[in-house]
Amino acid sequence: METKIYHQEDIKQAARVIKQGGLVSFPTETVYGLGADATNSKAVKKVYAAKGRPSDNPLIVHVASKEMVAQYVSGISDKANQLMETFWPGPLTLILPLSEEANLSISMTDQLETAAFRMPNNDLTLSLIRESNLPLVGPSANTSGKPSPTTATHVFNDLNGKIEAILDDGECEVGIESTVIDMSQLDKPTILRPGAITKEEIEKIIGEVLIDTHLVDDKQAPKSPGMKYKHYSPDAEVIIVDGSINDWRHAINYYKSQQKKVAILSSQAIYDELDDYSVFAHYILSENKDVKSAMHHLFSGLRQLDADLLGHDGIILAEGYDETSENMGYMNRLKKAANQTFFRK
Ligand code: TXA
Ligand code: MG
Repeated sequence: METKIYHQEDIKQAARVIKQGGLVSFPTETVYGLGADATNSKAVKKVYAAKGRPSDNPLIVHVASKEMVAQYVSGISDKANQLMETFWPGPLTLILPLSEEANLSISMTDQLETAAFRMPNNDLTLSLIRESNLPLVGPSANTSGKPSPTTATHVFNDLNGKIEAILDDGECEVGIESTVIDMSQLDKPTILRPGAITKEEIEKIIGEVLIDTHLVDDKQAPKSPGMKYKHYSPDAEVIIVDGSINDWRHAINYYKSQQKKVAILSSQAIYDELDDYSVFAHYILSENKDVKSAMHHLFSGLRQLDADLLGHDGIILAEGYDETSENMGYMNRLKKAANQTFFRK
């Protein structure tokens, strides 16, 4: 199968592919998704196969309105409603209780009692959902275990030949996946995956929320199945450097003495201060420390440096941030890519 690249003028064609049970990757403000009809179990099976995704990891359902969610859930609480009103379309996914008759195909193993819903902030994708008049499953459109795709080219590199088409809308703005919040237990809304929308922003709207203990202590089992897998990983080893410029110098010296090719993923400010070192490759995440820019560039940077290091015994040194609420999404993805490994001298 030849994977086609679609643009705005091809929305009708893309919707036809979806209605016929095919796979179309769609753009969102977070990362590219791998779209299929969420009510068609054969199509959804193809999504798992194309990604090589573990079958016990359920998929997010993408909708174009709150009314679309109402068709599948047993009820929408006031708090869930307030979150949708405030943050949709946008990078927030809500886990809600499914109604008994909901005919969604979102897991290849268990019959789930809940499902994750999200309304992405991308006009092409909202038109695709409206035109096909179907909810779409949409895991990130990467090969399972690779960094999530933030451009159509990333999707093409991972899935060419395995899916019918990619709807290209340039670079994703946010760059990491949505914040996931479990709203299925009314008394304790719980953040299962950190993203661009922070705990504080959510608490301003609905009051206190919990945070899955796994996110602060990785020895605790995560409540969200997808969070247990090593994820977002390039092939090269990734080490987080979160100290002073001297720590960067120590880290570079150390890995050079191990005969490793060193690649740097950092702000321009850090890179400039290291200009007396020759490193094998580098990728700039931001001008100065700036977590929004770092988030936007993180997955692209990991993919680019991985390509640069191909065939070499290389190491990626990546810029860490303090683990504040605002930085949590970035650090969560980086720690997964690095398997939690920090450089400490
Ligand atoms: O930004 C995003 O959310 C992107 C774009 C494409 O929308 N999508 C995405 O999907 O990241 P995916 O499938 O890669 O991640 C879905 C996450 C997984 O960690 C999964 O385990 C969790 O949501 N999840 C889905 N349904 C769930 C459920 N019913 N209960 C708990 N966790 C669930
Ligand atoms: Mg994913």
